[in-house]
Amino acid sequence: MAEPKENLQMEKIVSLCKRRGFIFQSSEIYGGINGFWDYGPLGAELKRNVKELWWNTMTRQRDDVAGLEATIIMSPAIWKASGHVDTFSDPMCDCKKCKKRHRADQLCEDQGLTLIKNADGKFALPEGTKCTNCDSKELTEPRPFNLMFKTYVGPVESEDNVAYLRPETAQAIFAQFKNVLETSRQKVPFGIGQIGKAFRNEVTPRNYTFRSREFEQMELEFFIKPDEAIEAIHGSVVTVPETGHPGEPQPNWGWQAWHQYWVEERVRFYENIGLSRETLGFHRQTPAELAHYARACTDILFKFPFSKQDENGNVAGDELEGIAARSDFDLSQHARFSGKPMGVFDDELRQAWAKLPKEKQDDLWRRYYENRKNYLTKSAKPDETAEQIQKQATDDANGLAKGQYIPHVIEPSAGVDRLILALIANAYTETTKTDDKGKSETIYTMKFHPRVAPIKVGVLPLLKNKPDLVKKALAVRDLLRPWMNVYYDDGGSIGKRYARQDEAGTPFCVTIDFDTLGEKPELLDTVTLRYRDDGRQERLKISELRDWLLARVR
Ligand code: GLY
Repeated sequence: MAEPKENLQMEKIVSLCKRRGFIFQSSEIYGGINGFWDYGPLGAELKRNVKELWWNTMTRQRDDVAGLEATIIMSPAIWKASGHVDTFSDPMCDCKKCKKRHRADQLCEDQGLTLIKNADGKFALPEGTKCTNCDSKELTEPRPFNLMFKTYVGPVESEDNVAYLRPETAQAIFAQFKNVLETSRQKVPFGIGQIGKAFRNEVTPRNYTFRSREFEQMELEFFIKPDEAIEAIHGSVVTVPETGHPGEPQPNWGWQAWHQYWVEERVRFYENIGLSRETLGFHRQTPAELAHYARACTDILFKFPFSKQDENGNVAGDELEGIAARSDFDLSQHARFSGKPMGVFDDELRQAWAKLPKEKQDDLWRRYYENRKNYLTKSAKPDETAEQIQKQATDDANGLAKGQYIPHVIEPSAGVDRLILALIANAYTETTKTDDKGKSETIYTMKFHPRVAPIKVGVLPLLKNKPDLVKKALAVRDLLRPWMNVYYDDGGSIGKRYARQDEAGTPFCVTIDFDTLGEKPELLDTVTLRYRDDGRQERLKISELRDWLLARVR
């Protein structure tokens, strides 16, 4: 893997983000704090637009998804059940010479090596690994470092009062599954979406906002019937090609079709906000990479300026979103740890099962039993015996025959901050202009899709010392303001004002000039509309302006 040569590009992007108020270092006046970032005026608008589009696409525009907004601090029992307390860690090692701390897997990867995982689950550094800070080969053995931020609830700092800042929004969705199901009148298949902050105490935050310690997620947990239930009801499970959109959801889809559906739905989302397929990459996790509960996971990648090239110069990209098929692991864990049932009753399944031939019933029963036994064995508590596990798996399979099951889950999980960085990197455009005297100037344009652009339209009076122009321009601003983010600018030459909006990524500017006031009577109450990307201009009636813009910015 070669280091990308475009790190210069990242430096330029970081500089523009600060200069124009997209992103600031958190606590900058105190020297900053590593892994934490603030969004300035333009960044805050961009982020808000992205989250609103996700929420709208994933919940409001669908009949089969409901929303949730849960707390960041939850019962620590949730993180025990989810496995985060015991296993949510990264391998960390220290340089004995310069004391620099490294994430061991990244340290190896940066040197074209692979961290060794032994049969007992412990990690070891391969021969030749050196500190990337001082080149010393004296490194400590890698040890796991739990990524959850710990705090205490209440005034007493005792182990009994430990709580965690959530490392993912997903678990609240599982914990509230029954409440949402009962109050939203949804039926499986259906999903619960949530947007919110998550926290991970990364060993080495890096690549600007890509890997931060405080970040935001947009997660959907989409609950589906187990394949055995689909087969009982519909006779067979339909699978779909592993490329392309499989179309409208069908009742006989199993987990594989739903997984493919969500991968393609999410790609459509990215295309819809200006990230073309060419800027994206895909990574289907190998069995060795998959989390123990996952059946499949497809990562959608974006080709960031810091993304590495392979030996052929190809760039795969870095992860924007993972779409995981999580089986029934999560709800099963919460059922076991909380003692509260997480299963659903499906009368269609009960009726269909009763009509199945005995051999089919036995076959489905056995397959469901084996799946449940595997899950129960893998996540058994130390005091659970094989007999107890078999009895539980038998009860579960008997439950299926009566129409009961724990839903399986497909999880599209996106990182908001990564997406913001991708949109910024994708929008960043530099051109050099040379004037008649041969003087060159670099022009920066942020070519955001109008749907995500922080400011939708700049409203500019041609001159600020002409009260009639100003009055009309303010009226246009007030006409548009209830509908979109408008920026009124009367400072400096019109060219300078256009350039300022280009740098902010504003897709359209409207200029109020003397023709607007009727100097040419046929142009009374029209404005000049200028396009950001090619500087093209046209004349539009003020009465048509709002709808014209709304059709493009929504
Ligand atoms: N819920 C999956 C993740 O946070 O990565």
